[in-house]
Amino acid sequence: VRSAVSRSSSSNHLLRRSFGTESVPERKVTVLGAAGGIGQPLSLLMKLNPLVSRLALYDIAGTPGVAADVGHVNTRSEVTGYAGEEQLAKALEGSDVVIIPAGVPRKPGMTRDDLFNINAGIVKSLCTAIAKYCPNALVNMISNPVNSTVPIAAEVFKKAGTYDERKLFGVTTLDVVRAKTFYAGKANAPVSEVNVPVIGGHAGITILPLFSQATPKANLSDDTILALTKRTQDGGTEVVEAKAGKGSATLSMAYAGALFADACLKGLNGVPDVVECTFVQSTVTELPFFASKVKLGKNGVEQVLDLGTLSDFEKEGLEKLKPELKASIEKGIQFANAN
Ligand code: NAI
Repeated sequence: VRSAVSRSSSSNHLLRRSFGTESVPERKVTVLGAAGGIGQPLSLLMKLNPLVSRLALYDIAGTPGVAADVGHVNTRSEVTGYAGEEQLAKALEGSDVVIIPAGVPRKPGMTRDDLFNINAGIVKSLCTAIAKYCPNALVNMISNPVNSTVPIAAEVFKKAGTYDERKLFGVTTLDVVRAKTFYAGKANAPVSEVNVPVIGGHAGITILPLFSQATPKANLSDDTILALTKRTQDGGTEVVEAKAGKGSATLSMAYAGALFADACLKGLNGVPDVVECTFVQSTVTELPFFASKVKLGKNGVEQVLDLGTLSDFEKEGLEKLKPELKASIEKGIQFANAN
């Protein structure tokens, strides 16, 4: 990786000259679970991001290879691989954004909640290390079930005395990415211009796309909206079934994770009006955590935006999702405090 470092500094010079990035601040991004199905393409996409100056790739094994490989890409950041728990501190120290795609993915027939027992423990131990080595970092939680892993992280940080609710995010961007893709197809709109807020949580019916607020506007029938909503909610399962035992979404998730991390970096750098849907501590409903549009700033969450006007169908979906989301949140909190 050392040779990659020296090479990337010369390309850094070229990048500066051609794109004038000298005013871009230094930012360290750490990926935990970097050798996995999501971790690898996500690491590559983060290597392509000119806002990153240092990219730390951590996993229990396999990261030296991923880091050597990704490190040869001639973009700004210096890449370092860290393998095994004894190297976790170094991977985290000085980090501005920590992205967590560590854990096991679903197989056909499994819900995200079936992953709970394994992933809850992984998330808890990684967050304990974050509290110790980079308590000020923005944490982007990808590991499922997000509806529970985010509350687990919050409890771990509270116990460590480092919890800042502005800095903990459940990554629900893939739901937005899917909703945009599916809507564009039905609305006959250019996908690059489409926007669809997605609220609630990140599992089954807790995923609630707000097609009534989608732009550009389209006159879609109730049946079409129902089908689009179901497809967005079942998008993950569609991929799990198509992969037939070989895991869940990795490539589209890496794209979504990279988009969300980029938004966090832009916020940190003071870019105005950065808004993304994400699962955060919230008071927009009576639930303690909720996904909605969030404005990102220099300290993470700047403002949790309200839900706007919902259609009757969406209002019904919102009431239906609350008990499930509430139970998943409580399950996470209970796990964190019992173990
Ligand atoms: P994977 O099994 O391919 O990779 C997971 C990686 O995590 C492996 O390299 C493994 O070694 C690593 N890992 C396990 N324990 C670790 C620890 N203690 N510290 C660091 N790394 C550790 O799984 P994949 O497909 O990359 O999925 C990862 C997670 O992301 C799963 O929980 C999955 O459910 C979730 N996911 C979340 C989505 C979302 O929208 N938020 C979408 C798709 C997947």
